[in-house]
Amino acid sequence: MDEIPKEKHDHKPLKFPDGFLWGAATSAHQVEGGNINSDWWDWELHNQPPDFRSGRACDSYNLYEEDFQIAKDLNQNAHRLSIEWARIEPREGQFDEQEIDHYKKVLRSLKDKDFKVMLTLWHFTLPKWVADKGGWENPKTVDYFLRFIGTVVPHIKEYVDFWITLNEPGVYVVMSYILGEWPPQMKSKVMAAFAYWNLAQAHKRAYKLLHQLASSKNVGIAHNVQSFSAYHKHSLMEQMAVIMADLVDNHSFYLLTDNSHDFIGINYYFHHRFNLSKGLIPNLSKGDTDETTHEVSDLGWEIHPQGIFDVLTDLKDHKPIYITECGIASTNDDRRTRFLIGYLQEVFHAIEEGVPVKGFFYWSLLDNFEWHRGFEPRFGLVEIDYTNQKRRIRPSAYVYSEIAKSNSIPHHFLRLLGHTINAKDVLCYKHNGPKALCGHIY
Ligand code: GCO
Repeated sequence: MDEIPKEKHDHKPLKFPDGFLWGAATSAHQVEGGNINSDWWDWELHNQPPDFRSGRACDSYNLYEEDFQIAKDLNQNAHRLSIEWARIEPREGQFDEQEIDHYKKVLRSLKDKDFKVMLTLWHFTLPKWVADKGGWENPKTVDYFLRFIGTVVPHIKEYVDFWITLNEPGVYVVMSYILGEWPPQMKSKVMAAFAYWNLAQAHKRAYKLLHQLASSKNVGIAHNVQSFSAYHKHSLMEQMAVIMADLVDNHSFYLLTDNSHDFIGINYYFHHRFNLSKGLIPNLSKGDTDETTHEVSDLGWEIHPQGIFDVLTDLKDHKPIYITECGIASTNDDRRTRFLIGYLQEVFHAIEEGVPVKGFFYWSLLDNFEWHRGFEPRFGLVEIDYTNQKRRIRPSAYVYSEIAKSNSIPHHFLRLLGHTINAKDVLCYKHNGPKALCGHIY
C-alpha cells in the first residue's frame, strides 16, 4: 500500500445538500428471475448459451425483502426499481391481478422502510406478444404501453415518488436496431428511427397520463448521457464530432420530448475520446479507451470522474437532476471504492457550480444479469453467489453507506483518493470506526 502522507490540516467533508437522495438502482428482468413471458426470455432461450440466460437471476422476485433490508441497513434512503410489463400483462389485454398485488407488496415494503421510491415503467423488456406485433417499431405499442400504465398506476401510485417512463431509449435503439445485438436484433437505420420516434411519443403521452393519474407529479426518463472529448485538442474534425455526438446522444431525445420532463434523469457510464485516426464512431457496447493509459472497468469502460461533472454542467437547465444510474463493473472492489469517491467528488463540485443535483443511485444494488453479457460483469454493492443466491455485502458498500449516513464525503475518504485504497482499510473502518481507518493517516 502506498505511504499516505500526514496532512497538516484536515480537509472539510464535502457536504451534500439537505434531503439529498442516496440510493441504488435495479431493473426487474435483471434481478427478479423467471420473466418467462418477455421478449428477452424468449430471445435468450433461442439465441444464448445456457450461462447467458437470465434464469433465476438474483431471485429478487422472492428475495426483495432481504434486498431492501440490506439497502436500508446500508443507510440508503431511496431506491430505484422497475415493474415488469410482461408479468402484469402476459397476454394482450389480460392483466394479472396477482402480479399487480405482488408489485404492491414490493413497493409497500420499500415505503414501510421509508425509502423514496423511483419506479421505472419500461426497462428494455417487452411482453412477448408486444414484440411479436413489432415492438417499438409499431406505433400501436405506444397505445399498448399507455393502456398498461392506465391499468397499473391507480393500484400503485400511493407508493411511488418518482416515475421513470423509459430507461435509456437511445441505448435501446442503438443496441436493438443499429448494432443488432439485442432483440429484435435488427440492423436498420429506418427501423431505428421509427422506434426512437415511437419511444418519444410514448414518453410524451405517458407524461400527460401520469400527471392525470398519479399523486406524485414527478415524471422523467433515465437517459444515458455520455461525455465526449477530442483526442487531439486541436483537431477541428474531432471537436465537431464532439459537438455532434453530444447533440445526438445527449440532447436529441430531450428535444423530441420538450416540456415533458419534471426532472432530468441521467445514467452516466461512458467517456469517449474521438480519435480521427481510429474512426469517428464511438463504440457503445465496448470501451474505446486505451487500457494502457487509462484505468477501465472490467467491461473496458474508462474510469473518468470528470466526465460526470461535464455532463451535469452540460445538461443543467434549472430542473432538478437525479443521477438515476452510475456504477462500475469490477471484480476489484477497491476499484469500486475509488470509483465511488472520485465520481461523487465530481458530483459535489457540480452542485457547488450551481447544478441542481438532488440524488444519486448507484448501479447496482446487486450483481445482476447484464443483458447479452450475462452474469459476468459485477456491478453490485452486494455480491451474489448465483449457486445459492447468497448475498454478501462488499466493502465498497460500507463506504457508500458512510457517505449516505453523513450526507457527505468524509475528509479521510478524500485523502485516500489518488492512493491505493485497500479493502482491508475500509473493513477496518467498518468495524472500528473512523480512527481505525488506515491507521497510518491518523
Ligand atoms: C443500461 C441499464 C442497465 C445496465 C447498466 C450497466 O444502461 O443498459 O439501464 O440495465 O445494466 O447500465 O450497463
